[in-house]
Amino acid sequence: MNVEIREDSSASLPAYASIPIAFEVHEIFEVEVRQDGVSGLAHHPRPVARPYVKDYDVLDGGPLGWPQRFDLSKWVLLAAHVEGHRVGGAAVAFETPAEMAVLWDVRVAPGHRSRGVGSALVAAAEASASLRGYRQLQVETQNVNVPACRFYLRCGFTLGAIHRFAYPSLPEEAQLLWYKSFL
Ligand SMILES: CC(C)(COP(=O)(O)OP(=O)(O)OC[C@H]1O[C@@H](n2cnc3c(N)ncnc32)[C@H](O)[C@@H]1OP(=O)(O)O)[C@@H](O)C(=O)NCCC(=O)NCCS
Repeated sequence: MNVEIREDSSASLPAYASIPIAFEVHEIFEVEVRQDGVSGLAHHPRPVARPYVKDYDVLDGGPLGWPQRFDLSKWVLLAAHVEGHRVGGAAVAFETPAEMAVLWDVRVAPGHRSRGVGSALVAAAEASASLRGYRQLQVETQNVNVPACRFYLRCGFTLGAIHRFAYPSLPEEAQLLWYKSFL
């Protein structure tokens, strides 16, 4: 499948937001706490009793709310097209300090997932960061998004941190921070 990745302006946010980010939760990575964390944290897959849909856009307002929340002049928006149709997008934030860029968002239309579109977006995000002199890409996900965790691993990210208390309003979810370094 031929995936074309283009840089977009913030005027394209409505089109960007038209790609759903929702996914079904069938399993979670349950966090194992060893000796109150002193001996480390680990995580293991566990099926959930009742699968459910998680939609970050519903929870945080999604891409249409970004202009109010962030300075998008320091972001790069990427759009993935297949046969002339928009099938995915990614947003990279460069406003972070030091040498780390943040992959703030990546999404592929449900009917086009698992066909290499996400990998193409991550590769373009890396290239964009590298071009600007950044040497590391960070991405945040949660232990309820097992497909995304597997995806980041497959894309060459490594788990840097498990934060059990990052979401006070969602105490059952842990924050997972993934990192990929490049030259
Ligand atoms: C996560 C997401 C962006 C991945 O995009 P994608 O186009 O499906 O990913 P790719 O087809 O490039 O997958 C590359 C590799 O990641 C892994 N992977 C991708 N989706 C997976 C899934 N659902 N379960 C397990 N592994 C998966 C596979 O190893 C795959 O390689 P393979 O197909 O050779 O086995 C996409 O599934 C998505 O939009 N999910 C909902 C939104 C979301 O969760 N975004 C991330 C928020 S942190």
